[in-house]
Amino acid sequence: MGTSLWIVDSSVDDLWGNPQIKDAAHQIRKGEVVAFPTETVYGLGANALDSTAVKKIFEAKGRPSDNPLIVHIAEKDQLRELVDEVTPVGEKLMNAFWPGPLSLIFKKKEGVFSELVTAGLDTVAIRVPEHPVAIALLKEADVPVAAPSANRSGRPSPTTAKHVLDDLHGRIKGVVDGGETGYGLESTVVDCTGDIPIILRPGSITAEDIRELIGEVLVDPALKDEKEAPKSPGMKYRHYAPEHPLFLVEGPIQLLQEFVDRFNQEGKRVGVLSTQENHQNITADATIVIGSEEELSSVAHSLYDTLRKSDQLNVDILLSQTFPEKGVGQAIMNRLRKAAGNQVLTEENLKK
Ligand code: TXA
Ligand code: MG
Repeated sequence: MGTSLWIVDSSVDDLWGNPQIKDAAHQIRKGEVVAFPTETVYGLGANALDSTAVKKIFEAKGRPSDNPLIVHIAEKDQLRELVDEVTPVGEKLMNAFWPGPLSLIFKKKEGVFSELVTAGLDTVAIRVPEHPVAIALLKEADVPVAAPSANRSGRPSPTTAKHVLDDLHGRIKGVVDGGETGYGLESTVVDCTGDIPIILRPGSITAEDIRELIGEVLVDPALKDEKEAPKSPGMKYRHYAPEHPLFLVEGPIQLLQEFVDRFNQEGKRVGVLSTQENHQNITADATIVIGSEEELSSVAHSLYDTLRKSDQLNVDILLSQTFPEKGVGQAIMNRLRKAAGNQVLTEENLKK
């Protein structure tokens, strides 16, 4: 399949009527799959009401069919036709954070969505994105759009159109290139079907943000304990994996250097992922900077690009520093742990 590239200047506020976006929306209406930028990561969209179209998403990504998709809508008014119930907690969350990087789980209206979208669950994840290209595309397509991240299953999510093409060229109808995405990590997924919101996947809308608004927030126990089954089906899969084995080093940056030296002594070439500040204090076979210690959002922004770039390094293993699990640090550590398949090194390991 030929994959079109539609380039759009996303600094334009109102993209209504843009010919590239019209083309892409036309393909969605015709039942094709199209990748597009959102403020989090690039999504791979199809008409959420059309099973034949949605099936193409799973095929292009190689995604397991038990992993439900997030449905994107242009405006929150569209919600009433799609869900059975909006709880007071759901109402507050969407009023505060939509449009934005928050996906909310509602009880779905029966018979609306393709069963593939919800993977047979009686709930559905919905969000209103904040990106001008995404909004214009959704308005133009005029259907709810199911869109997972536009990567091959298991790979880091794409934050540029190039990342999408690297994974999906020839497998999808086209990509709307609206430049680099902003936040860089996928939306926070929150179950708002009960009285207390439950975070199923951490993101840039943080536990602290939600607690401040609602007073209380729970976190799916599976996010802390590997043995628990996650409430969000997608969270059980290994994700974001770079090609070289990745280990996280928990402790001061000197400890990371000691591990580099240890692996070097074993004859292994080591690549290091660290912030700008720590970068200067590390000597390794290769180093890549992930944002700045001062501003954790800059780490979120560049994390997936860093993981993808690490594949090009001529090394045997990768070591990454860790981050404090506060604010967006929770989402960063959640993705890093998955990328590392939970391989964490501490001072204890050095003694062995
Ligand atoms: O930022 C984002 O959320 C991006 C952009 C494109 O919007 N999308 C994204 O989609 O990250 P995806 O498919 O990669 O992740 C969706 C997550 C999965 O972990 C999935 O299991 C969960 O949302 N999910 C979807 N529907 C659900 C439901 N009804 N109940 C629980 N979890 C659900
Ligand atoms: Mg994904």
